[in-house]
Amino acid sequence: MDLETLLQKNDFDKQEICFLLSLQGEQAKKLLDKSLEMKLKYLDNKVHLRGLIEYSNICEKNCLYCGLRTHNAKPVRYTMTDEEVFACAELAMQMNYGSVALQCGERSDKAFTDKITHLVEKIKKVSDGKLGITLSCGEQTKEVYTQWFNAGAHRYLLRIESSNEDLYYKIHPKNNMHSFFRRLECIDTLQNIGYQTGTGVMIGLPFQTVEDLAEDILFFKKKDVAMVGMGPFIPHSDTPLWQYSEIIPNKKDRMLLTLKMIAVLRIMMPEINMVSATANQTLDPLGREKAIMAGANVIMPNLTPNKYREEYLIYPDKACVGDKPEECYHCLDLRMHSIDHEILYSEWGDSKAFLKKNAIKQ
Ligand code: 5AD
Ligand code: SF4
Ligand code: FES
Repeated sequence: MDLETLLQKNDFDKQEICFLLSLQGEQAKKLLDKSLEMKLKYLDNKVHLRGLIEYSNICEKNCLYCGLRTHNAKPVRYTMTDEEVFACAELAMQMNYGSVALQCGERSDKAFTDKITHLVEKIKKVSDGKLGITLSCGEQTKEVYTQWFNAGAHRYLLRIESSNEDLYYKIHPKNNMHSFFRRLECIDTLQNIGYQTGTGVMIGLPFQTVEDLAEDILFFKKKDVAMVGMGPFIPHSDTPLWQYSEIIPNKKDRMLLTLKMIAVLRIMMPEINMVSATANQTLDPLGREKAIMAGANVIMPNLTPNKYREEYLIYPDKACVGDKPEECYHCLDLRMHSIDHEILYSEWGDSKAFLKKNAIKQ
């Protein structure tokens, strides 16, 4: 395959994606350069922020990779008070972050789902409708997703983790609580309700092949999602997948693979929102900047009160755990300027792909 010819195209088949994901050195650089060129053309050098509120680390699930899994006894389980959540929203307003993302472990009891509704309504109110609200609270029923949408949440993130069913069951327990089929259904439901829906995968998982990753990209395209958040897998010593730490790609390779995934997807879906995952910075001090240069356009600075951050270690060595929100504010501004990018403050930063699609529908 000739790289130059391939990079003239903006759609690839599975074989071509595998080829692109396998590039190394100067050739990989050409792919990343092409992606940056596409991003600047379609989305300019603008970066959107989502102030991240890690609302609760209580989780009913047992995903084999995650530090918050219910069988991990180490984290002290917490749920933020309503006042603490509203204080985060106030902080987001003060710092002109245009939107917040409320993330938590998965629960399905009514007390929990009603509480989220209340929080969304109240954040809308205290911000006078100015803050965009993204939710990332796992798999729920259509009724619950609708209730949250009506309360004012307009974006939802639910990663598929891997679009290969076999691999999905290698990284999740094989039981009803962790159904691949249900995850797919939830993504469809979210899209049908009208959420800007985001999904994503982890990159560098044990047993994951380049073919799997190519299929992941084709999955995002087929689903025509509005947003994608994908980042490197980082083994956590208190989880079952830790035992495979030796068989996954090393940090450098995982980082490069992540950048190539972002780049291929940006070329194929030029107007979607793509997050530069915080996990990138765990692998490389400049990981988040590199992901932005590879085609990502969203960053999620942490707003969670510092006393809780140590307990929200989905994966180890998370960036910014000891930093105050104000520090991240200045730090990110500097980091983005250092790569000639500019943060767009006070905007929701909706997915251009989604807005266009909906304008056509109406
Ligand atoms: N490494 C990287 N990402 C992880 N996630 C969970 N555990 C890990 C890990 N060990 C991601 C999953 C999940 C999101 C909340 O965090 O993709 O969807
Ligand atoms: Fe719970 Fe989400 Fe972690 Fe799975 S990935 S254990 S659902 S917090
Ligand atoms: Fe948090 Fe740099 S972004 S300290």
